[in-house]
Amino acid sequence: MICKNMKSIAVFLFFPLLAALWVAPVYADAMVSLKQPPNSLEQWYKPANKRQVWLHTMFRLRREMQAIAEYAEQNNQPAMQKWIKRLDEDYNKIADMVPEWEDQIKPRLLSELEMFAEKGDMPRVGKTLEMIGRTCDDCHTYYQPLVIATYRSPHYDDIKLKDSNGKEHSFEDNMEALSASVNRILIALDDGQKPVALQARLTLLEQLQNLGESCNSCHKDDEYPRERILGKATEERFTTLQASISEGRVKDSQKMMGEIAVTVCARCHNTHRIVSDLRDALLPEK
Ligand code: HEC
Ligand code: HEC
Ligand code: HEC
Repeated sequence: MICKNMKSIAVFLFFPLLAALWVAPVYADAMVSLKQPPNSLEQWYKPANKRQVWLHTMFRLRREMQAIAEYAEQNNQPAMQKWIKRLDEDYNKIADMVPEWEDQIKPRLLSELEMFAEKGDMPRVGKTLEMIGRTCDDCHTYYQPLVIATYRSPHYDDIKLKDSNGKEHSFEDNMEALSASVNRILIALDDGQKPVALQARLTLLEQLQNLGESCNSCHKDDEYPRERILGKATEERFTTLQASISEGRVKDSQKMMGEIAVTVCARCHNTHRIVSDLRDALLPEK
């Protein structure tokens, strides 16, 4: 399986909103040295695991922290204690799952939280929650970026594309070829070389069709992503382009090339390439 993490990326886009509800922002130093996560984390992620266990534990932790804070404010002691019990369990799971991270958590704070909750000392419950929140933030500041890059960002290195002769190419080679074709068309238009422009247009179309065969290695049975970028609208642009080039309408042809660059190349790059480039920058040796 090439793409181990698409579902979680969708979730990942949604959760920062909830984060803003109560977790205090991290005022980290301007420069933070990112740390390499321990290898034992891998077993809690796909494909080693069937589910994204680590991530879902994290989502629960945040929900528990929110519930406790809200019930403390409402002075609802029983409801608060119910969620403190759950927080206790999940918080301690951090070190059970990744023993190397035992020193990143402070279980003592959970005992204190339970004690203050029992006494109904809500201001202290609030203070202790804040201190727990700081242990969350500290770990996130140093570890979260590389964890996301390693386990949750799609990568394209394993994808092989076949050209019309059945020859295999890497994703990156296909990209360079696409770029060369786009520029060959633009150069030929500039210099009035109609046959060259027409031939390069054909090549570009074929390269995009080859690329299209790769979409479902991540998008599985979902037809929509491919349709959105390489579907009917794109086919129509290529048909219009052929007519414009054939009839020698250079301005129209250039305009159509601009539309293709935006609706095909840039639209895809904005979701896929930016993440891919960030991943490569964070994990340079891989
Ligand atoms: C799947 C959607 C997708 C489409 C459509 C797409 N690209 Fe890309 N492109 C990518 C991704 C992902 C990368 C980064 C790949 C990597 O680093 O392995 C990339 C990288 C590139 C690169 C840099 C290659 C390198 O050497 O690192 C160029 C140039 C490029 N694309 C050109 C284009 C052009 C021109 C088009 C349109 C004709 C296009 N791409 C359409 C996804 C796409
Ligand atoms: C020992 C390290 C560590 C501690 C302590 C920790 N986390 Fe995490 N947390 C992580 C890592 C690593 C990620 C990145 C996981 C990912 O994105 O796949 C993460 C991600 C998250 C996310 C998901 C963010 C998102 O939107 O994708 C939430 C929510 C979260 N943590 C909540 C908490 C809360 C609440 C606490 C404290 C009660 C906590 N975490 C303590 C390591 C930690
Ligand atoms: C290596 C994995 C991978 C490959 C290959 C891939 N995508 Fe994606 N794509 C993703 C991820 C991850 C997202 C963001 C989460 C989501 O929307 O599913 C995404 C999002 C999208 C989106 C925006 C969301 C949507 O459904 O409208 C479009 C459009 C899209 N991809 C089109 C394509 C096309 C077209 C191709 C093939 C040319 C392709 N993708 C190949 C991983 C991939």
